[in-house]
Amino acid sequence: MSSPSSTEQNHASAGGKVILLGEHAVVYGIPALVLGVSRGVTARLLADTCTMHVLRIEGWGVDVATGDCTTTDLGRAFGALVGASGVRVGASPRVVEVHVDLPPGGGLGCSAAIGVAVARALDGAASQADVMDRAMAWERIFHGNPSGIDVWAAAHGGIFSFTRGVGATPLAPPCTLHLAIGSTGRASGTKVMVERVRALKQEAPERVNAIFEGISGLVQNATHAILCGDVSGLGAHMNANHEHLINLGVSTPELDFVVGLARGAGALGAKLTGAGGGGCVAALAESAEHAEAIVRRWNLAGVDGWTTTSAQAQVEMPPRGAWPVHP
Ligand code: PMV
Repeated sequence: MSSPSSTEQNHASAGGKVILLGEHAVVYGIPALVLGVSRGVTARLLADTCTMHVLRIEGWGVDVATGDCTTTDLGRAFGALVGASGVRVGASPRVVEVHVDLPPGGGLGCSAAIGVAVARALDGAASQADVMDRAMAWERIFHGNPSGIDVWAAAHGGIFSFTRGVGATPLAPPCTLHLAIGSTGRASGTKVMVERVRALKQEAPERVNAIFEGISGLVQNATHAILCGDVSGLGAHMNANHEHLINLGVSTPELDFVVGLARGAGALGAKLTGAGGGGCVAALAESAEHAEAIVRRWNLAGVDGWTTTSAQAQVEMPPRGAWPVHP
């Protein structure tokens, strides 16, 4: 925790995301559809001077310095981010204090949101492109071969189609999309799951390529459905995408259970979101009330959940002074 005398030099935030369709396939160049969520990460740069940059994550009991580069992924990632931030940032070591409002390993882009918020806090003058480059340096330590979708969502928010190596196209649905997000309570490891898909692709290329082709068609149709306001159509494509993810071996009995509960509560579509192997389910609802009803159904079965909408897709910067005051 910061000392009472710590003063803030800069303040930044970044959002999490839900992949509506296309995870894993996006690593191989197929477009994916993403919705930024209002929950995210805030970071503040403190005026405290120190000999090395320090990253402090409130609530996680985490305190790493750039000198810890060799000991933990977090230390290595922070070192990579500071290294990518250039001489001006590197020359004035500071403490960055981070508050995270996303479940780690939840498939909601938690690590990318931290990377983007920290890059912004360290350098308030950085362009959006520079922030994303620096956050990608951080993400590569955790994910090995990230498509960049999480960093893009954390930096921009909104609802968009993303293609690796190309970038994003914002989408403007004519109606608000209402979602319920349910957590299996089990953390997923993106690096492990991406590696598992890579190994399967090597072992059974025809099977995996056929799955990716199926996902690609669904993403195209779902893009059209979003642009036309065909929410039922979007839900049907999400359901079909979940079947492909099962065939890819990235779903789990817990994810299928949470998906099944949502569908039983009338979700228009429900699927795992993110890397799978644990993490969260995204369920598309007819209205805000329906999304709340899906969450209540999950809660009855002991599953945590919350709601979000396409209208909240851009993370808000909390006003200055809104940070908790430490004793
Ligand atoms: O689980 P998350 O939030 O890290 O999402 C990963 C999405 C993948 O497509 C599985 C990987 C990637 O880099 O795109």
